[in-house]
Amino acid sequence: MTQRLMVHGGSPLEGEVRVSGAKNLVPKAMVAALLGQGISHLTNIPDIRDIHVVSGLLQLHGVTVHQDNSGLILDASHVKNANVEDIVGHAGSSRIPILFSGPLLHRLGHAFIPGLGGCDIGGRPTDFHFEVLRQFGATIENHPQGTYLVAPQRLRGTKIELPYPSVGATEQVLLTAVLAEGVTELRNAAIEPEIVDLICVLQKMGAIITRDADRTILITGVDELNGYNHRALPDRLEAASWACAALATKGDIYVRGARQLEMMTFLNTFRKVGGAFEVDDEGIRFWHPGGELKAIALETDVHPGFQTDWQQPLVVALTQATGLSVVHETVYESRLGFTGALNQMGAHIQLYSECLTGSPCRFERQNHTHSAVVSGPSKLTGGELHVPDLRGGFAYLIAALAAKGTSTLHGIDLINRGYENFMEKLRDLGADAEMITS
Ligand code: EPU
Repeated sequence: MTQRLMVHGGSPLEGEVRVSGAKNLVPKAMVAALLGQGISHLTNIPDIRDIHVVSGLLQLHGVTVHQDNSGLILDASHVKNANVEDIVGHAGSSRIPILFSGPLLHRLGHAFIPGLGGCDIGGRPTDFHFEVLRQFGATIENHPQGTYLVAPQRLRGTKIELPYPSVGATEQVLLTAVLAEGVTELRNAAIEPEIVDLICVLQKMGAIITRDADRTILITGVDELNGYNHRALPDRLEAASWACAALATKGDIYVRGARQLEMMTFLNTFRKVGGAFEVDDEGIRFWHPGGELKAIALETDVHPGFQTDWQQPLVVALTQATGLSVVHETVYESRLGFTGALNQMGAHIQLYSECLTGSPCRFERQNHTHSAVVSGPSKLTGGELHVPDLRGGFAYLIAALAAKGTSTLHGIDLINRGYENFMEKLRDLGADAEMITS
């Protein structure tokens, strides 16, 4: 059975949506529950695939996972070995399983991690993760079906300097250091809001974590952690996606639950392009104020820079701006491939392997097309679109909604991975879109 989405575009999106809990925090907070002897309560859970993958893996390891209307209740009092074949059943489904490494090494002395999945937006290596785990004292063996890790004795705190402020590797260090013996000093850490929220979760559990101003995090290991009570922060990536949809369709969307603090860089960029927004205590209203949108130069970066996950939806809005916009993607080497299909819809986007804005990035002279020049405004017309990855998929959805005529989107399941109930939300905004199952 396959599904495709028919979108009849050309009308503004107007109305209100409620932003879900953060996709890039909730599954990690669920993994953190594995470290606690007691019961954890997590609320504001989005209904997306990673939640089901992590629930499945936790259950295989003896954690009881109960979901009701208020959220998740996780009891990790009786952690046990899982059958490797059952773990392998989750291979290729997500990137989160690698974060089970530290918690399982602490609870069981060994861990088996299946092959990872995740969006195809670059090589997505795991070298930082395994190097970090080795530094804590784990031994690591690669097997055809996954990776087997052993902690011959209690893991020990260590000094780590990440080659790049990777979100996943920073989470790996946090989830491992909190129960390791002694102090861990992590330099060049990622400081995304979802990481800070994970630190809040761990502190509630009894961890001792200090953040310094210069991307340094100090963790003093403790002997035992408890459960936690936590409400996940809102998804700033989803909120920005709806903001871009408002701009590209000349619409007006109130995103209930969106917060200014985690979106400051996005809001500045949105304003530079010519979008209007208004913040109140309950959310943020985003709209196209009329007149021309302005071309900009944009460079993605780690937080507090312009988040890479905001780039793809914003590029669609930039096709409607007057002049030449320059976009330099510095976090993932292959996150601009989605633009080919936009060109078929009438956009004018040229890709380059040079670093086109600011200072040279890690991908300089490596032949990755990681810069784009977007020439606008372009009249978009409906097209046949194959969703390449999560954010690229939402970008296509925005393009289809902004375009004149009908578009067909294939591979919608990838959008479901990060945008809870997006069909319902589209309906609330007056979109003319229908899911066809055949
Ligand atoms: N990197 C390495 N080696 C590693 C790990 C990372 O070279 O061992 C490199 C990556 O190849 C990439 C850069 O470091 O070039 C940054 O990767 P990072 O580890 O920060 O990304 P991640 O943890 O795999 C998370 C989010 C992504 C988001 C990035 C950046 C989750 C599940 N995923 O990925 O979200 O783009 O951080 O903020 O939290 C999305 O939501 O669509 C998405 C892809």
